[in-house]
Amino acid sequence: MFKLNFARNADNLKKKNGKPDKSNNAQSGVPHKKDMLPYVENTSKTLTKNNEIANDLFIKHDVKRGLRNANGTGVVVGLTRIGAVDGYKINEKNEKVAVEGKLFYRGYDVEDLVKNCIAEDRFGFEEISYLLLFGDLPNKKQLAEFNELLSSHRELPVGFARDMIMTAPSANIMNKLARSVLALYSYDPTPDDLSIPNVLRQSIMLMGYFPPLVSYAYQAKKSYFDNESMHIHNPLPALSTAENILRMTRPTGEFTKLEAKLLDISLMLHAEHGGGNNSTFATHLLSSTDSDTYSVISAAIGSLKGPKHGGANLAVLKMISDLKKNVKDITNHKEVEKYLIKVLKGEANDGSGLIYGLGHAVYTISDPRAVILKGMAKELAADKQLLDDFMLCDFIEKRAPVLYKEVKGTDKPMPANVDLYSGFVYNALNIPIDISTPLFATARLSGWCAHRMEELIAGKRLIRPAYICVQKPLDYMPISKRK
Ligand SMILES: CC(C)(COP(=O)(O)OP(=O)(O)OC[C@H]1O[C@@H](n2cnc3c(N)ncnc32)[C@H](O)[C@@H]1OP(=O)(O)O)[C@@H](O)C(=O)NCCC(=O)NCCS
Repeated sequence: MFKLNFARNADNLKKKNGKPDKSNNAQSGVPHKKDMLPYVENTSKTLTKNNEIANDLFIKHDVKRGLRNANGTGVVVGLTRIGAVDGYKINEKNEKVAVEGKLFYRGYDVEDLVKNCIAEDRFGFEEISYLLLFGDLPNKKQLAEFNELLSSHRELPVGFARDMIMTAPSANIMNKLARSVLALYSYDPTPDDLSIPNVLRQSIMLMGYFPPLVSYAYQAKKSYFDNESMHIHNPLPALSTAENILRMTRPTGEFTKLEAKLLDISLMLHAEHGGGNNSTFATHLLSSTDSDTYSVISAAIGSLKGPKHGGANLAVLKMISDLKKNVKDITNHKEVEKYLIKVLKGEANDGSGLIYGLGHAVYTISDPRAVILKGMAKELAADKQLLDDFMLCDFIEKRAPVLYKEVKGTDKPMPANVDLYSGFVYNALNIPIDISTPLFATARLSGWCAHRMEELIAGKRLIRPAYICVQKPLDYMPISKRK
């Protein structure tokens, strides 16, 4: 282990005496960049007006907005053998009927997979990745061989951490992760080869690389943007994915077996979620163009980053932090309720009107991942003296759906989703908030790679839906006559 203090004051690079530093441009004779703010503020109004599409046009053209049917179910756009998300039944009137949520990986109930790994006191994420990729549970020999391959691909290519991560850090680790994945294209002798052995090789290699990519991007961010010391620990081949992540993100590199096991369970729960979730669909979408693995996976990362998708775990943590700033006593239910109502009305937190960690496109009564994570969160809460925080999440889970109904007047089911408790678990495990969504990406990479190969093997069609143009035809007007 070695310890570097690369701490630089990012502000010094960006500002001089509190003002943007233009000296470089001035010296080189390049004109100063014109302030774009007044221009974009003004022109955005026209742009917005010219992009609005009335709601009734969507109805008139029977557009499946968000690729959803009228009864709220997803439009079927493909078949998969990899994962199944069961959140409702359809009755004889073609209506959605709420049921407890179930999640299956290659036909196996995820609850069973997790329970059995716990019972056998083993790390399970690698085994689940094997299952997702190959379609069968590995025997001991197959798992050992797979683990060995992953372990031998933990070390990044020579110079990669220095050249690609440290020299161009990002305040956002998902952004850095996507850029690192794209950069790996140029380290691959056969990046565009779409044969399954080659794509499988790239997939296993990326699975090995993700823990150091995330951890080093976080270390660079800490140093460059937070003015903190950077600690670079090398990955160890004998450690599991979860153990390596904890080793490489923590200053001391130390962790307990229990912490690693809990992180491992969280990775297992985030590894796959059917073909229709946004980032996996993005994987299918891009793979259907015969693009390369690096382009496809970086796009999936971009999709997962959004706060309505994987970025919700970060959004939950930010919302809870905002709640704590605005509510004097988080055990006072009346006060918490007032805050939640304000959120729903778009008057608190980020103004989106969303209570993050609630709602799901498929699940209705429950998200099975949230149920398992809640159980873990409860144990951690008692152990780490975080009972008030746990009870706050529990209150949000129980009360917010009722408040949603009162404020919006709809009966839409609002189950707690995986992100309500994953943020809590990461916080209790002392995992930095910056890597909460990148950990989701590290887990989901296995699902993405499995779906990419399924698309290449079974998809066989360019995904190309239709948009109806609702713009009236216009006659060309010479520039001299335009107002
Ligand atoms: C996950 C999510 C995108 C799924 O939504 P969905 O079932 O597809 O429903 P829609 O996005 O079509 O939303 C339908 C309505 O419910 C509202 N809604 C959905 N989830 C909501 C939430 N958590 N808080 C407040 N309102 C919510 C939407 O704003 C929308 O309102 P509108 O009809 O007035 O525009 C949505 O529940 C959400 O944004 N949740 C918060 C983010 C989150 O936790 N994401 C993690 C998902 S695992």
